[in-house]
Amino acid sequence: MTSDNQELTAQSAAYPPPERLVNPEEGREKPWISSMAEYEALYNESIQQPDKFWTRTANELLTWDKPFTHVTQGSLNEGNMAWFSDGQLNISYNCVDRWAIKDPNRVAFVYEADEPGQASKVTYGELLAKVCGLANVLHSFGLRKGDTVAIYMPMIPEAAVAMLACARLGLVHTVVFAGFSAASLAERVADARCRVVITADEGLRGSRPIRTKAIVDEALKTCPEVERVLVFRRTGSEQVEFNAPRDVWWHEAVAAQRPYCPPVPVSAEDPLFLLYTSGSTGKPKGVVHTSGGYLLGAAMTLKYVFDIHDGDVFCCTADIGWITGHSYVVYGPLALGSTSVVFESVPTYPDASRYWKLVEDHKITQFYTAPTAIRALRRHGDDFVTKCDLSSLRVIGSVGEPINPDAWTWYNEVVGGSRCAVVDTYWQTETGSHVITPLPGATVAKPGSATFPFFGVELAILDPTTGTELEGNDVSGVLAIKRSWPSMARTIAGDHKRFLETYLRPYPGYYFAGDGASRDADGYYWIRGRVDDVINVSGHRLSTAEVESALIGHNAVAESAVVAAPDELTGQSICAFVTLKNGFEANNKLKEELVKEVRTRIGPIATPKVLILVDELPKTRSGKIIRRILRKVVAGEADQLGDLSTLSDPSILDVLVREVSTAI
Ligand code: WTA
Repeated sequence: MTSDNQELTAQSAAYPPPERLVNPEEGREKPWISSMAEYEALYNESIQQPDKFWTRTANELLTWDKPFTHVTQGSLNEGNMAWFSDGQLNISYNCVDRWAIKDPNRVAFVYEADEPGQASKVTYGELLAKVCGLANVLHSFGLRKGDTVAIYMPMIPEAAVAMLACARLGLVHTVVFAGFSAASLAERVADARCRVVITADEGLRGSRPIRTKAIVDEALKTCPEVERVLVFRRTGSEQVEFNAPRDVWWHEAVAAQRPYCPPVPVSAEDPLFLLYTSGSTGKPKGVVHTSGGYLLGAAMTLKYVFDIHDGDVFCCTADIGWITGHSYVVYGPLALGSTSVVFESVPTYPDASRYWKLVEDHKITQFYTAPTAIRALRRHGDDFVTKCDLSSLRVIGSVGEPINPDAWTWYNEVVGGSRCAVVDTYWQTETGSHVITPLPGATVAKPGSATFPFFGVELAILDPTTGTELEGNDVSGVLAIKRSWPSMARTIAGDHKRFLETYLRPYPGYYFAGDGASRDADGYYWIRGRVDDVINVSGHRLSTAEVESALIGHNAVAESAVVAAPDELTGQSICAFVTLKNGFEANNKLKEELVKEVRTRIGPIATPKVLILVDELPKTRSGKIIRRILRKVVAGEADQLGDLSTLSDPSILDVLVREVSTAI
């Protein structure tokens, strides 16, 4: 919740849409939404006449096998929302066939491989053939509509092919970020009851091989129900173990199949995918997204928020393992028949110009990344950016965490050359697509504010304690949404009760986002960060409980408490406090071992930046750990600890402050 936009209010610098968007050069179309009046008219229609608004947009952007007659039903109170429920469609048909039929040579994916200079393209015609071939393989494995398939792959077009092949048959995919450990993968495969895992022999990141298949092998030791592992050959490494008949090579299996596969129409409300994300408790939850509403949300936000027109080349640097990769590398761009860049490497390989060289080489028109990458690249200096030709860029976006005004301004001036619109998009795995965002041709931006709600999203700021809605401007509280929208998650796989308890019960009648927010005097929304036990490291969500249980898994650990510390580069970092069992000696070697334990159990993204061995944790008299105190101490705010009357042993405070100041 600490961020330097805390002080910013209505007086912040304001940036109107750039001239280049408002008055486009010859051959460019005007932005889809080119004034606030236009935004307001459409927004009002989406709220006041939702049936009319959504019927029009859902028919404009999607092709239905069976048209829907009913737009929306259910309520946030009951948690039984459904959209376009009597309509049927196929997601892969919408994302691939429509464009392959019309214009097979149009480029669907530009694949920027790890090694520079090895880019290649996949046209819509080629994509259709790849998706059909793979779908037939999955069908030959006995998979049928409703079955769930795990995908654990590097950032290569085949990861998208795997997702689309599932969608073609009405299978549900669950992509697991390939940076997660074997244990995390196993947990997700088991929870989603997958019988098939799709993977690659190895991945490559910054020339370093990632032993993807070996991690799958390790994970599957505890998942006996997995019958098939389909392996794409990415590096051709000789070291990859292959256990036939369980393991099947992708290329061999596809070669044996008919090249066409008919798409299976599904209900708009049939699930398209599960995506595991961290919540307040230790166990990651499988957020369920449905077909029709989700695809509409992804397509529509991309169209308006990035102002996508024919011929644009869109690049989102997120991994396919996260929701941003789902909505804005795969589903959104393809549903619009656009060209999407799949970036396999890292922003600093071979040097800090990689992103900007990418923009230059592929004439990228819209670029979307995370504040943590912006902050990291900024540290390398402007030359890495300015030596590249970025004149093709029109809209540049940010997602995943609050962007501090400094980073915003650098992004705008140095990357955007003050000629692009900057869109700070706020959303979540659960929202499926953007919910608060500027529109590039209309919104006057304020650095650090995600500005205004997207169409159909009715926001509220609630008093955190009473749940009362705070009316008017200049208010702060927790962020909530007052009605369902098409791309919102419908449930948590196998645990609808948890869905209700996490999102819909805390403030009945509202969707509770878990973030603090303010609405300034001009009605702009400012996201203040999570109000629950979720830590956001470089835009990756982790729960404190998840990291704590990984630490407790080590036999030296008696107790642990994990909190977020503010971090200049990654937004937040993980700070772990650990007490040891009797007989274990506190030393650096043990600390390293504990850090390694977390990496092995969850993955490198969960690595604690600071791990402090203490004799005692601050607790209430009834023995509950008071994390609030730890949070304040690591934020350097030990002088603002507030009410300490519940603390059982106040004498430990001085020790804590001392330990932290030597460790951080
Ligand atoms: C945070 C990522 C401020 C927020 C799409 C949210 C943001 C969580 C922004 C969701 C933003 C995302 N400004 N905070 N523009 N975008 N967040 O599920 O705390 O990985 O609740 O989805 O990221 O993270 P998730």
